[in-house]
Amino acid sequence: MMRPRFLIRSFKHIQASVFSSSYLHFKSGRISQACKLKAMSTSSRPKVFVTRRVPEDGINLLKEHCEVSQWNSDDAITREELIRGIKGVDALFCLLTDKIDEGILDAAGDSLRAIGTMSVGYDHIDLAACRKRGIPVGYTPDVLTSATAELTVALLLNVSRRLGEGVEAVKDGSWGTWSPLWMCGQGLDGATVGILGLGRIGLAVAQCLKPFGVSKILYSGNSEKDEAKQLQAEFVTFDELLKKSDFVLGCCALTKENIGLMNKEAFSKMKKTAVFINTSRGGLVNQDDLYEALKYGEIFAAGVDVTSPEPLPTDSSLLSLSNCVVLPHIGSATMKARNAMSELCARNIIAALKGNPMLKQVQ
Ligand code: DGY
Repeated sequence: MMRPRFLIRSFKHIQASVFSSSYLHFKSGRISQACKLKAMSTSSRPKVFVTRRVPEDGINLLKEHCEVSQWNSDDAITREELIRGIKGVDALFCLLTDKIDEGILDAAGDSLRAIGTMSVGYDHIDLAACRKRGIPVGYTPDVLTSATAELTVALLLNVSRRLGEGVEAVKDGSWGTWSPLWMCGQGLDGATVGILGLGRIGLAVAQCLKPFGVSKILYSGNSEKDEAKQLQAEFVTFDELLKKSDFVLGCCALTKENIGLMNKEAFSKMKKTAVFINTSRGGLVNQDDLYEALKYGEIFAAGVDVTSPEPLPTDSSLLSLSNCVVLPHIGSATMKARNAMSELCARNIIAALKGNPMLKQVQ
């Protein structure tokens, strides 16, 4: 289905019709908000460019303080349109699908004073380039932690207990009689769970998994975490985690250092009965190596909510495997989380535009 793609250019619209009734149609607010606008010179209102259709909570907040223009599509904005849209704005509201690099910052010009990404991950933004120009970058941690942890656990259970295969077997008639050796998977009771990156999401996943009778939680990363103590989680080396874990979960942010961390060598160190889950970023995994590991029984199964590229081409070899479940990057996809992400992203931007620290600023 073709979706409409066009830019809502509300700056000019506001200037042209701020006092007219036609202006009110894109404000969700009341006339009093229009009066508030009236009191302000339109030129004093900072301009914000939003790179996609996003939950209204954030947009409505922005509209109270700013002139908002928006790429009005559910599809990612093209680089060309982004360059066009960002020109001369004070702030950018972007998503993880928008690569924000020197070229984009140059296109914005000197007016750009704030960037907010509606995501907890910010590997799509050239932070050094932003820092050099003194542009603060806001992100949206915390508000998506529960949703993402929940999805991680759902994916883990799906893969380890072979739910997808079971559903298929019922549909295609390969379900024979109840059989002691059929559709057996890996359970969490008594298992060792290894978490790559015990940040907010990793911790929340660990908390969710504990009641399943997990016997040990291991984690690896840059440093030991105080919060790990409450879970009796043990800080180990990456190698030790791979060797000892029944479940290896990718919950870390993607950095230059961990791109392709889960490669042939890593999979070869895992138990043959182990399950690998990734809900962080596709770049953490060498997908060819994952395919080989699954195909040739180096590991038991895998579930990934993130791939490289996204969307994963439908002819990807991973999709031919019965022991691999691929989801379309839906970790934070609950209405509650997405509304909160939109709102927090807007609040970050508004704070910076007022000269205040962002609520959640990338350090
Ligand atoms: C993020 O926010 O970085 C997630 O990947 C999507 O919500």
